[in-house]
Amino acid sequence: MIRGSTGPHDRGRVVTEIVILTGAGISAESGLGTFRDLGGVWTQVRLEEVATPEAFAANPARVQDFYNARRAQAASASPNPAHEALARLQKAFGDRMMLVTQNVDDLHERAGARAVHMHGSLFSALCNACGARDTWTCDITNESSCRNCGRKALRPDVVWFGEMPYHMDQIGEALQSARLFAAIGTSGVVYPAAGFVAEAEAAGAHTIEINLEDTGHPAFRECLTGPATETVPKWVDGLLAEGAR
Ligand code: OAD
Repeated sequence: MIRGSTGPHDRGRVVTEIVILTGAGISAESGLGTFRDLGGVWTQVRLEEVATPEAFAANPARVQDFYNARRAQAASASPNPAHEALARLQKAFGDRMMLVTQNVDDLHERAGARAVHMHGSLFSALCNACGARDTWTCDITNESSCRNCGRKALRPDVVWFGEMPYHMDQIGEALQSARLFAAIGTSGVVYPAAGFVAEAEAAGAHTIEINLEDTGHPAFRECLTGPATETVPKWVDGLLAEGAR
Protein backbone atom coordinates (compact mmCIF):
# COMPACT_ATOMS: atom_id res chain seq x y z
CA MET A 1 0.00 0.00 0.00
CA ILE A 2 1.05 3.61 -0.63
CA ARG A 3 4.30 2.88 -2.41
CA GLY A 4 5.98 3.54 -5.72
CA SER A 5 6.96 6.88 -7.20
CA THR A 6 4.10 7.58 -9.57
CA GLY A 7 0.97 6.32 -7.85
CA PRO A 8 -2.52 5.95 -9.23
CA HIS A 9 -3.92 8.49 -11.64
CA ASP A 10 -7.52 9.33 -12.35
CA ARG A 11 -7.84 10.72 -15.90
CA GLY A 12 -4.33 12.18 -15.70
CA ARG A 13 -4.87 13.65 -12.23
CA VAL A 14 -2.90 12.33 -9.26
CA VAL A 15 -5.16 10.64 -6.71
CA THR A 16 -4.71 11.55 -3.04
CA GLU A 17 -3.65 8.50 -1.00
CA ILE A 18 -2.79 10.12 2.32
CA VAL A 19 -4.76 12.82 4.11
CA ILE A 20 -3.26 14.32 7.24
CA LEU A 21 -5.26 16.67 9.44
CA THR A 22 -3.39 18.78 11.95
CA GLY A 23 -4.60 20.84 14.89
CA ALA A 24 -3.19 23.14 17.53
CA GLY A 25 -1.30 20.29 19.24
CA ILE A 26 1.27 20.13 16.44
CA SER A 27 2.28 23.73 17.13
CA ALA A 28 2.16 23.42 20.94
CA GLU A 29 5.86 22.58 21.22
CA SER A 30 6.63 25.63 19.09
CA GLY A 31 5.16 27.66 21.93
CA LEU A 32 1.73 28.35 20.43
CA GLY A 33 -1.12 27.63 22.82
CA THR A 34 -3.81 25.06 22.09
CA PHE A 35 -7.48 25.92 22.61
CA ARG A 36 -8.97 23.45 25.02
CA ASP A 37 -6.07 22.10 27.09
CA LEU A 38 -5.40 23.41 30.60
CA GLY A 39 -4.48 27.09 30.10
CA GLY A 40 -5.63 26.95 26.46
CA VAL A 41 -6.89 29.98 24.55
CA TRP A 42 -10.58 29.25 25.18
CA THR A 43 -9.96 28.90 28.91
CA GLN A 44 -8.69 32.50 28.94
CA VAL A 45 -10.99 34.22 26.43
CA ARG A 46 -14.61 33.42 25.62
CA LEU A 47 -14.70 32.36 21.97
CA GLU A 48 -18.09 34.11 21.62
CA GLU A 49 -16.26 37.41 22.28
CA VAL A 50 -13.56 37.04 19.63
CA ALA A 51 -14.27 34.24 17.15
CA THR A 52 -17.71 34.85 15.68
CA PRO A 53 -19.06 37.29 13.06
CA GLU A 54 -21.34 38.69 15.80
CA ALA A 55 -18.33 39.44 18.01
CA PHE A 56 -16.66 41.31 15.15
CA ALA A 57 -19.81 43.32 14.44
CA ALA A 58 -20.18 44.22 18.13
CA ASN A 59 -16.56 45.09 18.88
CA PRO A 60 -14.22 44.97 15.85
CA ALA A 61 -11.27 46.52 17.71
CA ARG A 62 -11.39 43.80 20.40
CA VAL A 63 -11.42 41.07 17.74
CA GLN A 64 -8.63 42.73 15.71
CA ASP A 65 -6.51 43.01 18.88
CA PHE A 66 -6.99 39.33 19.65
CA TYR A 67 -5.87 38.22 16.17
CA ASN A 68 -3.08 40.82 16.00
CA ALA A 69 -1.62 39.30 19.18
CA ARG A 70 -1.95 35.79 17.78
CA ARG A 71 -0.33 36.85 14.48
CA ALA A 72 2.63 38.38 16.31
CA GLN A 73 3.00 35.27 18.47
CA ALA A 74 2.87 32.96 15.44
CA ALA A 75 5.42 35.10 13.58
CA SER A 76 7.89 34.74 16.44
CA ALA A 77 7.46 30.95 16.69
CA SER A 78 9.47 28.42 14.68
CA PRO A 79 8.45 25.12 13.08
CA ASN A 80 9.28 22.07 15.18
CA PRO A 81 10.40 18.55 14.18
CA ALA A 82 6.77 17.45 13.68
CA HIS A 83 6.16 20.16 11.06
CA GLU A 84 9.48 19.29 9.46
CA ALA A 85 8.68 15.57 9.35
CA LEU A 86 5.36 16.22 7.56
CA ALA A 87 7.20 18.41 5.05
CA ARG A 88 9.56 15.48 4.36
CA LEU A 89 6.60 13.17 3.88
CA GLN A 90 4.97 15.58 1.47
CA LYS A 91 8.19 15.94 -0.48
CA ALA A 92 8.26 12.16 -0.93
CA PHE A 93 4.57 11.74 -1.80
CA GLY A 94 3.94 15.01 -3.64
CA ASP A 95 0.31 15.44 -4.69
CA ARG A 96 -0.51 11.94 -3.43
CA MET A 97 -0.58 13.47 0.06
CA MET A 98 -2.87 16.26 1.23
CA LEU A 99 -1.95 18.13 4.38
CA VAL A 100 -5.03 19.81 5.85
CA THR A 101 -4.67 22.07 8.85
CA GLN A 102 -7.12 23.73 11.20
CA ASN A 103 -4.27 25.97 12.31
CA VAL A 104 -4.06 29.58 11.25
CA ASP A 105 -0.31 29.81 11.85
CA ASP A 106 2.17 29.37 8.99
CA LEU A 107 4.49 26.81 10.59
CA HIS A 108 3.73 24.07 8.03
CA GLU A 109 4.73 26.47 5.23
CA ARG A 110 7.85 27.63 7.03
CA ALA A 111 8.85 23.97 7.46
CA GLY A 112 8.59 23.62 3.66
CA ALA A 113 5.13 22.04 3.28
CA ARG A 114 2.00 23.13 1.43
CA ALA A 115 -1.06 23.01 3.67
CA VAL A 116 -4.75 23.42 2.93
CA HIS A 117 -5.87 25.94 5.56
CA MET A 118 -9.48 25.05 6.26
CA HIS A 119 -9.75 27.70 9.01
CA GLY A 120 -7.88 30.38 7.04
CA SER A 121 -4.66 32.14 7.88
CA LEU A 122 -3.47 34.85 10.24
CA PHE A 123 -1.23 36.06 7.45
CA SER A 124 -4.05 36.98 5.10
CA ALA A 125 -6.53 39.86 5.28
CA LEU A 126 -10.02 39.65 3.83
CA CYS A 127 -11.89 42.75 2.67
CA ASN A 128 -15.49 42.78 3.86
CA ALA A 129 -16.30 45.37 1.16
CA CYS A 130 -14.90 43.82 -2.04
CA GLY A 131 -13.98 40.26 -0.98
CA ALA A 132 -10.30 40.64 -1.96
CA ARG A 133 -7.69 38.65 -0.06
CA ASP A 134 -4.22 40.00 0.56
CA THR A 135 -1.08 38.70 2.23
CA TRP A 136 -0.82 40.56 5.53
CA THR A 137 2.00 40.29 8.04
CA CYS A 138 1.44 43.30 10.33
CA ASP A 139 -1.50 44.37 12.49
CA ILE A 140 -4.94 44.84 10.95
CA THR A 141 -6.90 47.71 12.49
CA ASN A 142 -10.21 49.38 11.70
CA GLU A 143 -8.13 52.02 9.91
CA SER A 144 -6.33 49.56 7.61
CA SER A 145 -7.27 50.03 3.95
CA CYS A 146 -7.86 47.30 1.42
CA ARG A 147 -5.13 47.46 -1.23
CA ASN A 148 -7.72 46.49 -3.85
CA CYS A 149 -10.68 48.83 -3.23
CA GLY A 150 -9.26 51.29 -0.70
CA ARG A 151 -12.09 50.80 1.81
CA LYS A 152 -11.36 50.46 5.53
CA ALA A 153 -13.10 47.11 5.80
CA LEU A 154 -10.42 44.52 6.52
CA ARG A 155 -10.78 41.53 8.82
CA PRO A 156 -8.46 38.60 9.52
CA ASP A 157 -8.93 35.93 6.85
CA VAL A 158 -9.78 33.29 9.42
CA VAL A 159 -12.92 31.19 9.71
CA TRP A 160 -15.06 32.07 12.70
CA PHE A 161 -17.66 29.89 14.41
CA GLY A 162 -20.80 30.03 12.31
CA GLU A 163 -18.84 30.45 9.05
CA MET A 164 -18.15 27.82 6.42
CA PRO A 165 -14.59 26.40 6.51
CA TYR A 166 -12.56 26.80 3.33
CA HIS A 167 -11.70 24.18 0.66
CA MET A 168 -14.32 21.66 1.80
CA ASP A 169 -14.94 20.24 -1.72
CA GLN A 170 -11.23 19.62 -2.29
CA ILE A 171 -10.86 17.98 1.15
CA GLY A 172 -14.00 15.86 0.69
CA GLU A 173 -12.70 14.53 -2.61
CA ALA A 174 -9.33 13.65 -1.06
CA LEU A 175 -11.03 11.81 1.82
CA GLN A 176 -12.90 9.65 -0.68
CA SER A 177 -9.70 8.36 -2.28
CA ALA A 178 -7.37 8.26 0.75
CA ARG A 179 -5.95 4.91 1.89
CA LEU A 180 -4.56 6.49 5.06
CA PHE A 181 -6.01 9.24 7.25
CA ALA A 182 -4.11 10.67 10.24
CA ALA A 183 -5.29 13.30 12.72
CA ILE A 184 -2.43 14.93 14.59
CA GLY A 185 -2.76 17.16 17.67
CA THR A 186 -6.47 17.84 17.44
CA SER A 187 -9.14 17.25 20.07
CA GLY A 188 -11.61 16.23 17.37
CA VAL A 189 -14.52 18.21 18.75
CA VAL A 190 -14.93 20.92 16.11
CA TYR A 191 -16.90 20.01 13.00
CA PRO A 192 -16.56 19.56 10.09
CA ALA A 193 -12.93 18.50 10.75
CA ALA A 194 -14.07 16.17 13.55
CA GLY A 195 -16.09 14.20 10.98
CA PHE A 196 -13.20 13.56 8.57
CA VAL A 197 -12.19 10.32 10.30
CA ALA A 198 -15.66 8.83 9.76
CA GLU A 199 -15.63 9.91 6.11
CA ALA A 200 -12.20 8.39 5.53
CA GLU A 201 -13.12 5.20 7.37
CA ALA A 202 -16.33 4.84 5.34
CA ALA A 203 -14.28 5.22 2.16
CA GLY A 204 -11.96 2.40 3.31
CA ALA A 205 -8.94 4.25 4.72
CA HIS A 206 -6.82 3.12 7.65
CA THR A 207 -7.24 5.77 10.35
CA ILE A 208 -4.75 6.83 12.98
CA GLU A 209 -4.82 9.39 15.76
CA ILE A 210 -1.54 10.93 16.92
CA ASN A 211 -2.00 12.97 20.08
CA LEU A 212 -0.37 13.79 23.37
CA GLU A 213 -2.99 11.57 24.99
CA ASP A 214 -5.66 9.14 23.87
CA THR A 215 -8.70 11.35 23.19
CA GLY A 216 -10.95 8.30 23.44
CA HIS A 217 -12.34 9.06 19.99
CA PRO A 218 -13.82 5.67 19.03
CA ALA A 219 -13.50 6.10 15.26
CA PHE A 220 -9.73 5.61 14.93
CA ARG A 221 -8.27 2.17 14.17
CA GLU A 222 -4.89 3.06 15.67
CA CYS A 223 -3.65 5.56 18.24
CA LEU A 224 -0.11 6.85 18.90
CA THR A 225 0.35 8.87 22.06
CA GLY A 226 3.13 11.25 23.05
CA PRO A 227 4.44 14.71 22.15
CA ALA A 228 4.16 15.39 18.42
CA THR A 229 7.85 16.28 18.12
CA GLU A 230 8.64 12.67 19.10
CA THR A 231 5.76 10.65 17.64
CA VAL A 232 5.40 12.34 14.26
CA PRO A 233 9.04 12.08 13.03
CA LYS A 234 9.11 8.37 14.02
CA TRP A 235 5.80 7.68 12.31
CA VAL A 236 6.91 9.52 9.17
CA ASP A 237 10.21 7.60 9.09
CA GLY A 238 8.21 4.36 9.27
CA LEU A 239 5.97 5.40 6.37
CA LEU A 240 8.94 6.46 4.25
CA ALA A 241 10.72 3.17 4.98
CA GLU A 242 7.55 1.27 4.03
CA GLY A 243 7.30 3.25 0.79
CA ALA A 244 10.95 2.53 -0.05
CA ARG A 245 10.63 -1.24 0.41
P1 OAD B 1 -7.66 21.83 20.73
O1 OAD B 1 -7.06 22.78 21.70
O2 OAD B 1 -9.11 21.58 20.82
O3 OAD B 1 -6.93 20.42 20.86
C1 OAD B 1 -5.52 20.31 20.87
C2 OAD B 1 -5.15 18.86 20.93
O4 OAD B 1 -3.74 18.78 20.84
C3 OAD B 1 -5.57 18.14 22.22
O5 OAD B 1 -6.23 16.93 21.89
C4 OAD B 1 -4.23 17.86 22.93
O6 OAD B 1 -4.23 16.61 23.63
C5 OAD B 1 -3.27 17.82 21.76
N1 OAD B 1 -1.89 18.19 22.10
C6 OAD B 1 -1.47 19.16 22.95
N2 OAD B 1 -0.13 19.23 22.98
C7 OAD B 1 0.32 18.29 22.12
C8 OAD B 1 1.60 17.85 21.71
N3 OAD B 1 2.73 18.41 22.18
N4 OAD B 1 1.68 16.82 20.81
C9 OAD B 1 0.58 16.24 20.33
N5 OAD B 1 -0.67 16.60 20.68
C10 OAD B 1 -0.80 17.63 21.55
O7 OAD B 1 -7.22 22.34 19.27
P2 OAD B 1 -7.82 21.92 17.84
O8 OAD B 1 -8.31 20.53 17.86
O9 OAD B 1 -6.84 22.31 16.83
O10 OAD B 1 -11.14 26.85 15.45
O11 OAD B 1 -9.06 22.90 17.77
C11 OAD B 1 -9.87 22.88 16.61
C12 OAD B 1 -10.43 24.24 16.36
O12 OAD B 1 -11.07 24.73 17.54
C13 OAD B 1 -9.40 25.31 16.04
O13 OAD B 1 -9.02 25.33 14.70
C14 OAD B 1 -10.10 26.58 16.41
C15 OAD B 1 -10.66 26.11 17.74
O14 OAD B 1 -11.73 26.81 18.25
C16 OAD B 1 -11.58 28.12 15.25
O15 OAD B 1 -11.11 29.08 15.83
C17 OAD B 1 -12.67 28.22 14.23
